[in-house]
Amino acid sequence: MSEDLVKVKTIAVLTSGGDSPGMNAAVRAVVRAAAQSKIKVYGVKHGYYGLIHDEFVEMDTHSVSNIIQRGGTILKSARSEEFRTEEGRKNAAENLKKYNIDALVAIGGDGTFTGANLLSKEHGVNAVGVPATIDNDIIGTDETIGYDSALNTALDAIDKIRDTADAHERMFLVEVMGRDTGFIALETSIASGAEIALLPEELTNVEEVKRQLNNMLKEQRRSSLVVVAEGDETGGAIKLAERIKDDFSQYDMRVCILGHIQRGGAPTARDRVLASRLGAAAVKVLQEGHSEVMVGVVNNSLKLTPMRVAISKKKELDHSLIELAKILR
Ligand code: F6P
Repeated sequence: MSEDLVKVKTIAVLTSGGDSPGMNAAVRAVVRAAAQSKIKVYGVKHGYYGLIHDEFVEMDTHSVSNIIQRGGTILKSARSEEFRTEEGRKNAAENLKKYNIDALVAIGGDGTFTGANLLSKEHGVNAVGVPATIDNDIIGTDETIGYDSALNTALDAIDKIRDTADAHERMFLVEVMGRDTGFIALETSIASGAEIALLPEELTNVEEVKRQLNNMLKEQRRSSLVVVAEGDETGGAIKLAERIKDDFSQYDMRVCILGHIQRGGAPTARDRVLASRLGAAAVKVLQEGHSEVMVGVVNNSLKLTPMRVAISKKKELDHSLIELAKILR
């Protein structure tokens, strides 16, 4: 260990918000990297709820055996309303003090980092964020843990839908996750050759969608796939189908909502490696004396972003990919 490292004796790690494939790999990396530096680790069950309600479990290198390939999170996850209150955060800080915890590693999305940032500001808790959400909507990292897995899960499903759509010469509206962002919708639409992608980032003109689908009909397309991000302002695939189905009765339209299937399953190799890098990096940056930062990977290099910056705005879609999807459909 280098002389410049800060003495970190005990850390806590939690997963919070919507789970994503690779969270387990990140927990494993935190625990094993800490063990390497003789740092004691407490896992906190059920995210911030467990931080408030004292659900701390001591972890060692064996407690994270055989989890790198598993979806979900062994620490469980939750969205805690209580933690949004000052009282809740005060109780959480008291628990951290009770266990002599020097720092917290918070694995999750922007809601998770907002919580960790407040805990730091109000109670001086050292905190590092590890970005994990299938939505990929966090700036300061090229990809979030779980995005690649969710993308491939959704793509696999869409490919299967294309087979049956083609067999029956049908139109399918497929809804993918993405509450505020269209990363999954955009990239699955390119990778599956979907006819149209509807994204929360772009205003959807339903008349224009109908016109485009009609043009494709004239081109003798036998099946059509429209990928709809759940956060698109049309209100999702069911609502869109209600608005356009009468115009395409010859297509025998069907709707398929992929839903939470996209959150589960074994993480891809890419997510496992990303989670391993980021989990270990979180421990390292705490030892280097950083706090209120998020670790990320940008252009294949580790990068630190202040948490307040990471939560200040959503990551933007690559406009050249939006154009590409339109050219190639
Ligand atoms: O943030 C990830 C996400 O999967 C979103 O894409 C989706 O809108 C949301 O979580 C669903 O959350 P819940 O599991 O609480 O319904």
